[in-house]
Amino acid sequence: MTDPGTDPTTSTQPSWQGPSSSGRLVLWGDVLDFTEDPGFAAPHEAAGVRWRPDHAVLIDDGRVVAVQPRVQSLGDDWLAAPVEDHRGRLIMPGFIDTHVHCPQLDVIASFGTALLDWLNTYTFPAERRYADPTASREGAQRFLRALWANGTTSAVVFPTVHKVSAQALFEEAHAQHMRLVTGKVLMDRHAPDGLRDDVEQAERDCVDLIEQWHGKGRQSFAVTVRFAPTSTPAQLKMAGQLCQTYAGTYMQTHVAENRDEVRWVAELFPDARSYLDVYDRDGLIGARAVLAHGIWLDERDRAVLREHGAQIAHSPSSNLFLGSGLFDWAGAERGGVNVSLASDVGGGTSLSMLRNMADAYKIQAMQGTRLTAWKALFTATLGAARHLGLAHEMGHVDPGCMADLAVWDWAVEPVASHRDEVAKASGNLHERVFAWMTLGDERNLVGTLIAGKTVYKTRTAA
Ligand code: GUN
Ligand code: ZN
Repeated sequence: MTDPGTDPTTSTQPSWQGPSSSGRLVLWGDVLDFTEDPGFAAPHEAAGVRWRPDHAVLIDDGRVVAVQPRVQSLGDDWLAAPVEDHRGRLIMPGFIDTHVHCPQLDVIASFGTALLDWLNTYTFPAERRYADPTASREGAQRFLRALWANGTTSAVVFPTVHKVSAQALFEEAHAQHMRLVTGKVLMDRHAPDGLRDDVEQAERDCVDLIEQWHGKGRQSFAVTVRFAPTSTPAQLKMAGQLCQTYAGTYMQTHVAENRDEVRWVAELFPDARSYLDVYDRDGLIGARAVLAHGIWLDERDRAVLREHGAQIAHSPSSNLFLGSGLFDWAGAERGGVNVSLASDVGGGTSLSMLRNMADAYKIQAMQGTRLTAWKALFTATLGAARHLGLAHEMGHVDPGCMADLAVWDWAVEPVASHRDEVAKASGNLHERVFAWMTLGDERNLVGTLIAGKTVYKTRTAA
């Protein structure tokens, strides 16, 4: 590409100023977002793709107030607003990662095991450290910064069993007006010392956190059952009662990720029809349920998810890395199941939603389905926002939305730059966006804004 804006080392862009004291800011660039689900249609037949090249995004007091062609007059009262010139770059809604573990940055990329061994060998020992409030606070700060450095502006997050670990995440996200969904992890069995709670204490901790945080600013509480094996039937019952009592809270857990895990759940809960049924019969499945993985579900399970409007958080890099299986995304959607995209770090190997999309493409390709960039990008933005019931505030770039945005370079290294030039010359936008999605990662990110404020920018982003 000849546009200097695509090469951070030669960038001549004006400085990254952030909002003025009035809270106003104007971004120039090529705006890409979605207005509906493109589905698994071929790229040229996909609906809902909104491409607004060379536009200005007007931000005031944390929200988008207008998106208009750059050449259109701004009006006198905007003349003093700072302008960030990202011409030749992509401006997109920030990504929404619907399943990720804060403490697992400590164990990302650990060698050699499948789910159950991986939990015992790496994950549980690392999570024990979060009993310490300082470790929780530092871990939350490190984790949220890492999300922002990947263009992710909202997430559904697992902390640890310790109340303080959820508290730390809420505090750090709230300070930045970031939409965060989390809650202390429930686990009262099959976990080592220092990582188990009990039903009564866990309930008290959850109620405290709900009262303190749920609905405060952009914070949302999730009843967080780790997975069926680490909760007693009594704890699952209590968790279900919390979901019923505190309508509006979310529920997050894992389901049907790995075949050994599925067998173990069948042994532990012989009366349940299926793994999903363990949750459903206690009232844990509702429209705000986010279930990671769901690789080994059957048609009846899918019908249950569809009837409740619950979502599967498909976690491609994790499914590959832990050898868990190939999620049938198209089949799940044919069954009416809502699907979002997630990194599931540290089972997943990258917080980059782009890298996870590239993995998702390969998982679908192995099953004969072609995942377009439109479908993948929709899913990590408006799709996730809709499934979480938050599309009024995020996932697209429209007046009234919070200004949760990411600015991207098309390419930052020679192979991708060459590929981008070829794709650009073809005049086929999907070809170009697909190559960006497949070759891009956090190095392509120029900056991230949450509620109109810059929370991350690259050193070289002028
Ligand atoms: N199942 C139960 N806990 C976990 C976890 O931490 N990561 C993944 N990938 N699966 C789980
Ligand atoms: Zn997980």
